[in-house]
Amino acid sequence: MITLSRIGQSIHSSPTLKINEKAAQLRAQGESVIHLGGGEPKSCAPFGAIVAASNLLNSGEIRYTPSAGTPALRKAIVDYTQTFYRQEITPKNVIASNGAKQAIMTALLAIIDPGDEVIFPAPYWVSYPEMVSLCGGVSRVVNPESGYIPTIKAFEAAISPKTKAIILNSPNNPSGLTYPESLVSDLVQLCERRDLWLIMDDIYHRLTFDGYPMLSCFDYAQSFDERSKLVVINGISKQYAMTGFRIGWAVASPVLIQAMNNIQSHFSSGPSALLQHAAVAALTGPQSSVESLRLTLQNQRDVLVDLARSIPGLKVEKPHGTFYSFIDFSAYEKSSHKLAEYLINSVRVATVPGLDFGMEGHLRISYCGSMKDIVEGFRRISWALGADGSDEIEIGGKRVRRAECIK
Ligand SMILES: Cc1ncc(COP(=O)(O)O)c(C=O)c1O
Repeated sequence: MITLSRIGQSIHSSPTLKINEKAAQLRAQGESVIHLGGGEPKSCAPFGAIVAASNLLNSGEIRYTPSAGTPALRKAIVDYTQTFYRQEITPKNVIASNGAKQAIMTALLAIIDPGDEVIFPAPYWVSYPEMVSLCGGVSRVVNPESGYIPTIKAFEAAISPKTKAIILNSPNNPSGLTYPESLVSDLVQLCERRDLWLIMDDIYHRLTFDGYPMLSCFDYAQSFDERSKLVVINGISKQYAMTGFRIGWAVASPVLIQAMNNIQSHFSSGPSALLQHAAVAALTGPQSSVESLRLTLQNQRDVLVDLARSIPGLKVEKPHGTFYSFIDFSAYEKSSHKLAEYLINSVRVATVPGLDFGMEGHLRISYCGSMKDIVEGFRRISWALGADGSDEIEIGGKRVRRAECIK
């Protein structure tokens, strides 16, 4: 009999990866699937990054690197932090990891003891609760009284003697909203006062719209020195459309970085030499692809919001950034899993249930695919919800009759 550990039994697979698999499976069976559940831009990686990686590959000399990342990549991250955060740091403040995901996980492993509590607001990125569980920690979710932004008082009320850290992701996956500057600055100061770690997950920070500013949490800190408990996470995945390259990083005090480096050195060693090389080229090369992606996403966001708002009963907050919208469908169906299942089964539209992000009644709908997919996806969703009044719809060349009316 196979007996798994507590962790082996209790950690769930990522719901977003599960949705990708289901969509791919249906497509392989020839079904016309519209994937609005994705978490990656569809543009190409910057040309310079591809050339850099292929040149290194052709050399055949692809070796281990220092476990915290190559000097060139750490230097590029130092410069990035200066440019986008106006904060001077040194390579001792930097560790490069296999994606921002590993940077967050390694930071938590270095901070959290079993039983320690980690606070984050809902809606939250699906991986935070599982990462905290992997460390033996306990998640404390702060729910907004209304909307998607909790007050500083709600964070304060969630702090207990066991609290070790707060995680904030802005702009937020899944809501697409940025937290107000006053909340970010209050949180930085609250964490300083209460001696808590603050992990800022800034993976989407360059993908904001309508002039929403890129905040630098360092601006609100008393100082950023050896004793600082501020951890800033970022990476190349989203801004450079380089999700598959798996390079992310953390900026923190040298004490934490050293501990993370010790953990990473036994866990995975440094990220792939090839992909670190590509990341350096992306970070130091022309930045026009980021701006072009940002403008494309802003345009797609506008179309999506208009389409969603044209369906009676849906509540839609206009995202400030990212490529996600978090739409309240509860007027039609309160169970987000039931609704997501219904949409994929009846009209072949893939979405991610809000419950996986800690908020029932919502679906996360991505706009990082093509404009055609967004328009077609909403044509199908509107029909599935019974909003367009017709009894039949054409899907991928087939006429489909209403399978089941939700309301
Ligand atoms: C909020 C958030 N943080 C971190 C990550 C992980 O990024 P990476 O692909 O660099 O591991 C994601 C990816 O979806 C994310 O949405």
